[in-house]
Amino acid sequence: MFKIKRICCIGAGYVGGPTCSVIAQMCPEITVTVVDVNESRIKAWNSDTLPIYEPGLKEVVESCRGRNLFFSTDIPSAIRDADLVFISVNTPTKTYGMGKGRAADLKFIESCARQIVEVSDGYKIVTEKSTVPVRAAESIRRIFDANTKPSLNLQVLSNPEFLAEGTAVRDLKEPDRVLIGGDETPEGQRAIRALCAVYEHWVPKSRIITTNTWSSELSKLAANAFLAQRISSINSISALCEATGADVEEVAKAIGMDQRIGSKFLKASVGFGGSCFQKDVLNLVYLCEALNLPEVASYWQQVIDMNEYQRRRFACRIIDCLFNTVTGKKIALLGFSFKKDTGDTRESSSIYISKYLMDEGAKLFIYDPKVLKEQIIHDLSQPSISEDNPQRVSELVTVTRDPYEACQSAHALVICTEWDMFRVTITFTFCYVASSFGEHTRFHVVISDAATGAGLREDLQEDAEAGVHIRRPPRAGPPPRRAAEHRLPDRDHWKESDLCTNPVHPCDRRSSHRPHRAPHQEGQSLKLILPPPPPPPPPLHGAHSSCQLLISPAEVEGLNSSQHLSAGEIKRLAALGGRLKVAEDQIF
Ligand SMILES: NC(=O)c1ccc[n+]([C@@H]2O[C@H](COP(=O)([O-])OP(=O)(O)OC[C@H]3O[C@@H](n4cnc5c(N)ncnc54)[C@H](O)[C@@H]3O)[C@@H](O)[C@H]2O)c1
Repeated sequence: MFKIKRICCIGAGYVGGPTCSVIAQMCPEITVTVVDVNESRIKAWNSDTLPIYEPGLKEVVESCRGRNLFFSTDIPSAIRDADLVFISVNTPTKTYGMGKGRAADLKFIESCARQIVEVSDGYKIVTEKSTVPVRAAESIRRIFDANTKPSLNLQVLSNPEFLAEGTAVRDLKEPDRVLIGGDETPEGQRAIRALCAVYEHWVPKSRIITTNTWSSELSKLAANAFLAQRISSINSISALCEATGADVEEVAKAIGMDQRIGSKFLKASVGFGGSCFQKDVLNLVYLCEALNLPEVASYWQQVIDMNEYQRRRFACRIIDCLFNTVTGKKIALLGFSFKKDTGDTRESSSIYISKYLMDEGAKLFIYDPKVLKEQIIHDLSQPSISEDNPQRVSELVTVTRDPYEACQSAHALVICTEWDMFRVTITFTFCYVASSFGEHTRFHVVISDAATGAGLREDLQEDAEAGVHIRRPPRAGPPPRRAAEHRLPDRDHWKESDLCTNPVHPCDRRSSHRPHRAPHQEGQSLKLILPPPPPPPPPLHGAHSSCQLLISPAEVEGLNSSQHLSAGEIKRLAALGGRLKVAEDQIF
């Protein structure tokens, strides 16, 4: 059997980098070189600050970089030396010419194919890892055939990558399956066996599937289309829930417990983002149209349309909650990456929510734990987002390095990405919800129903009359897993004292009614004393100033027996913010 000793991976991005790092760690006798035309990316891979954020990736890279894992810009040498070449370059949606806005742009794949055939000699296995339209391997082969030389023998395989950003290392180490497609010829089967042997270092044989090339290529597109479809399906049901009073979480739980359906990817959200779902579904739609299958094309197009509808709907709910105008209002937007545990913002729903809010003249204060300010400004300055006025981004958008700065005096707090740090914060602290309920403005503490929420709520109810005490639950054992695992990197910002003295403030108009609290030591209860309610404000005509935390219905229900809000007020709160909840599962 042909044994692979040297691997070259072209493309050091979100797929090439993590995939080859794990291969290098699992196969110490194989030398893996990851190459890219992007010098700064390669420099970052060779530094302490990797160019992408993935939990656990740094440890994997550090365990084998310089031993059998290398990052380089010397692409010809790496190709020449390799027994197997992975093509892991980007295949974005075309922005020009035929198929614009739908077809995959294969120019990077083509340039790799040309470079491989130019510098190679002897036998090599060339493997598509990028997501490509069906029969892309045929185009690669045609390029090879047109430029072949007597000494050259290039076998083409398809080995699509199924990792999800945010869980890439786990997905690579424990994949549900590895898919390898190749020719049904003896040469093709020999190449398949050689690649299988690489994965067999750590993946059970039963999880390595081999197919023909076209099935493999199509399976990747179809898998992404199915995942995106589930998100759009539950999002469509969320709209129906809001119109009928049903609770989408309850519906999702009820249908997900049916084993034929399953519970994964059934969380309503602000819509899916990421570089792949939209691109791959559009690619599938284009393929169906090109193959004269218009009914199939329009079926999958609906998945995209529903996603856009959900994003728009979410933005409209925010505007609606703020009395139909957000012009000049401060809106804190927490989370800009397309999902938690990644710094990737490609096609993030946050970009579109920001666009809709900027269109209405809102002042956005954006915080994300991993996305750099330059990236946020760059994303929002794109012509498709800022149209002909990129200037408005600098006028309307402030990117903060501190979440509290983003939230301070905001009229609304919108959690777009379900980073755990946002949950932890709410678990251990509180946010004020103030709105113009009847004559008095009420303040209320809202605590999430994360690990410790229930206990906190009991305390809250006990002390509702005298002010509000928030007591941390006794720490008998280790702290709750979620809280312990997802501490902020710069924990200093999140000291409990900060959490208590610096809550989301209700509104500018009432800034003199900041709560204050007694000094606190670890283990003691935290006492927060609210000032006596102010006299009823004069009636406002049209202008309302308010701050609403967008919380889940479950949380509203949890507060139902509290003495602060009447049942009617809770209903109103639920109607205002209850369904605009943390956007979970913008998974790709
Ligand atoms: N991002 C994901 O989670 C994911 C998951 C599964 C599959 N995929 C697919 O994998 C492919 C790569 O995705 P990605 O997210 O890693 O993209 P990426 O943009 O992060 O990385 C691609 C890299 O390829 C480099 N490149 C492009 N042309 C090159 C050339 N001719 N020579 C050398 N380098 C070149 C680019 O500079 C870039 O660094 C895409 O087809 C994508 O659909 C992505």
